[in-house]
Amino acid sequence: MDKKKYYITTAIAYTSGKPHIGNTYEIVLADSIARYKRQKGYDVYFQTGTDEHGEKIELKAKEKGVTPKAFVDDIAGEIKRIWDVMNTSYDKFVRTTDPHHEKIVQKIFDKMYEKGDIYKGEYSGLYCTPCESFWTESQLVDGKCPDCGRDVETKKEEAYFFKLSKYQDKLVEYIESHPDFIAPESRKNEMLNNFIKPGLQDLCVSRTSFDWGIKVNIDPKHIVYVWLDALTNYITNIGYDPEGSSVEFNKWWPADLHLVGKDIIRFHTIYWPCFLWSLDLELPKKVFGHPWLLTNNDKIGKSRGNAIYADDLVDLFGVDAVRYYVLHEIPYANDGNLTYDLLIERTNTDLANTLGNLVNRTISMANKYFDGNVTNKKVTEKLDTDLINMVNLLDDNVEEKMDRLEIGFALDQIFDVLRRLNKYIDETTPWALAKEEGKKDRLETVLYNLLDSIRVCAYFLRPFLTETSDEIFKQLNINDETDKFNPNNTYKDMKPEVLFARIDKEKKMEEIKNSNRNK
Ligand code: ME8
Ligand code: MG
Repeated sequence: MDKKKYYITTAIAYTSGKPHIGNTYEIVLADSIARYKRQKGYDVYFQTGTDEHGEKIELKAKEKGVTPKAFVDDIAGEIKRIWDVMNTSYDKFVRTTDPHHEKIVQKIFDKMYEKGDIYKGEYSGLYCTPCESFWTESQLVDGKCPDCGRDVETKKEEAYFFKLSKYQDKLVEYIESHPDFIAPESRKNEMLNNFIKPGLQDLCVSRTSFDWGIKVNIDPKHIVYVWLDALTNYITNIGYDPEGSSVEFNKWWPADLHLVGKDIIRFHTIYWPCFLWSLDLELPKKVFGHPWLLTNNDKIGKSRGNAIYADDLVDLFGVDAVRYYVLHEIPYANDGNLTYDLLIERTNTDLANTLGNLVNRTISMANKYFDGNVTNKKVTEKLDTDLINMVNLLDDNVEEKMDRLEIGFALDQIFDVLRRLNKYIDETTPWALAKEEGKKDRLETVLYNLLDSIRVCAYFLRPFLTETSDEIFKQLNINDETDKFNPNNTYKDMKPEVLFARIDKEKKMEEIKNSNRNK
């Protein structure tokens, strides 16, 4: 039987600077979904990449005294490196400066123009000549240019427009009749009521004020608007071509999930659907606007000097601790907060104690009492059945949360079982059983129940804490990749090693201070 396909994308990151932990959260979130779907047997295609054109990048390159291409090459490399540090399993890393993408964007523009959805018009705005910038009324400060404080004048410029207004009714109708298209629900209402229903104006899709971008084929002094260039990455890279798409394109499109931050859901649920309709293409099945990661409850921004970077955190805490933290701290619809205090606390409580200690204690007891050879002696008590039932429900419980994109809550399901396993040790008191005459088989059954339950938890942890999951399988010395408690495994030659060292808070804070000073 053919596997069901699943096409998932992240936003493509701006190559204006090194990505901070907030941007990195998105790729980790996408990665955990992609890995989960693969584990569930889907044929997954996971795409990410970089958004490299535009005036801001042209300016930044100039400041640095390098060409825009050299500038974006450098930052795209840095972004890809960080995605790799985070162990993300993307299938393709795309760049909007890729010549094939550029060529197809030109063809897309041509097709929309031929269809009459793009027309030539006049852009009129408030212009600051020294700064060469257009401003809107609301951007002005005391009626003057917000950058240099000088007077602005009304200026008209030739530009191309996309007929967004033509699709307004269709868009309202579509969103209302496809309740799963935009998630979370609150974002859907915001889009409809605040942006779409008040009226869509035609969108200016070309610029002449800078050069760093894709030239409009029919009028090369114009540059294609960066969002038309960027959004189409989702189709140009899988073989879309207005003159005939590839087999691959027909396999993957429509995307199953576009994962984007809440600030850009507007572009993905207004512009993007209308662009796709103009090309006679189907819409993606779902656009999820995830919340933000804040640092000390503040928006992360490089200019604010509070940017925290994923690779620095990985140096300090390890990759899975960082993955766990961001996934757990932003469970679904509300912004999450990142502080070193909280990160240390979570690592110690959830990872070192609940998970690490459990695995370590269990294997150590198996080694101590049975020389590391444990089979299921099936001297079962009622609390074993309750435990095993809970383990066997993990599959459904995790799936329910994952289907709702509640990734943090899916993790909680697994940690609930881990907490239950710790409690099971307290309840069965293996150290006391070891001293009792005639309780040897009961003791072995208890340890078996723990070992095989840990194995199942490690299986479900794999999409989230990939390295840790592999490490647990290695320590258990087993490769049973089933998702239910298996009463007939054999555990032998197990090696307990510390999964997560307990962090000494004072020492770690000192280390953080020193590492910041060295920058
Ligand atoms: O928006 N927490 O790129 P970008 C969580 N190039 N997510 C955050 C965040 C935070 N603090 N800050 C930003 C762009 N993000 C465009 C996308 S797609 C066709 C073009 C998210 O580098 C942000 O919402 O500014 C976006 O989804 C992603 O990081 C990249 O942001
Ligand atoms: Mg942004």
